[in-house]
Amino acid sequence: MLKPEKLTIQTPIEQLKGLKIRTKIFVKRDDLNGLLISGNKARKLEYLIADAKAKKCDTIITCGAIQSNHCRTTAAFAKYFNFECHLLLRVRQRPRSVYTGNLLIDKLLGAKIDYITPTQYERRMEVMAEYAERLRKKGRVPYIIPEGGSNEIGALGYIDCMKEMENFIRRHKIEAIYCAVGSGGTYAGLLLGKKLLNLNVDLNGIIICDTIEYFAEKIYEICSNAENRFDFPIHVRNSDIHLIDGYVGEGYGVPYPAELNTITRIAKLGIILEPVYTGKTFYGMLEDFKKCTYKKVIFIHTGGIFSIFAFHKEIAKFLH
Ligand SMILES: Cc1ncc(COP(=O)(O)O)c(C=O)c1O
Repeated sequence: MLKPEKLTIQTPIEQLKGLKIRTKIFVKRDDLNGLLISGNKARKLEYLIADAKAKKCDTIITCGAIQSNHCRTTAAFAKYFNFECHLLLRVRQRPRSVYTGNLLIDKLLGAKIDYITPTQYERRMEVMAEYAERLRKKGRVPYIIPEGGSNEIGALGYIDCMKEMENFIRRHKIEAIYCAVGSGGTYAGLLLGKKLLNLNVDLNGIIICDTIEYFAEKIYEICSNAENRFDFPIHVRNSDIHLIDGYVGEGYGVPYPAELNTITRIAKLGIILEPVYTGKTFYGMLEDFKKCTYKKVIFIHTGGIFSIFAFHKEIAKFLH
């Protein structure tokens, strides 16, 4: 089994007080995680960087949206572990040197940035492989991390997270866990952890882009690859995957009023959510409570705080 480059410490689980609803919400504060308050991506990168080191690579290549939390976390890990970092960022138009949020941090950390179009992004694995080939010709030894760090290696980080929560879930009789699904690795890791630990808890993934069919297939594939590669004594079935749709809005990274209202409402309780992932997920979870009878749940706060600065205009309209 791969030994992670551990930078995260066990994150706290805190009860969210002041919402005046029937369900008690506990927040797993993965937003406080690891290097540069990295959120969920830190857990995945602990394993991916360990794999890159084991393969004697010296350069990391990855991809994501222009405000990708994953790319920013990768830039931070690459810097810490002394890798050269190349980010392929998806944009419709090249940004006019307005650096904010995660992109500003990417630049500050000295990541090498190339912009790619949405069409190129559709064939991102191929584009990254070609990019790696060019770097190899220059003498570098590249390691490609897929979008969101979501493969069977990155998912190991969320088995760790489930292990951290195991005692709490049993002691407090937690009935459900909610998390955002943006590239599937967090959900896949939590599901593997749930099966490995034989935990009786619903795992509800709220999709924030694409479709349920797309993610169900992707999560199944990540879990199967992990079972085979690491000889896990479990078998994840399609029916184990529970995804919730209806909160994407107009698409990835496009916020909507009910979500922005939730962000400002929850901020008053001391928890900062952001419009791309955790805002949609938290709003979706509150709506889901109207259809179910959970008494106690855990919301995985997957981080992403820096992107609020890129959405300051949208958020400001809902300040009251
Ligand atoms: C802040 C934040 N939350 C949630 C997610 C979704 O996690 P995953 O990509 O593992 O599905 C991401 C990334 O996609 C993220 O950056």
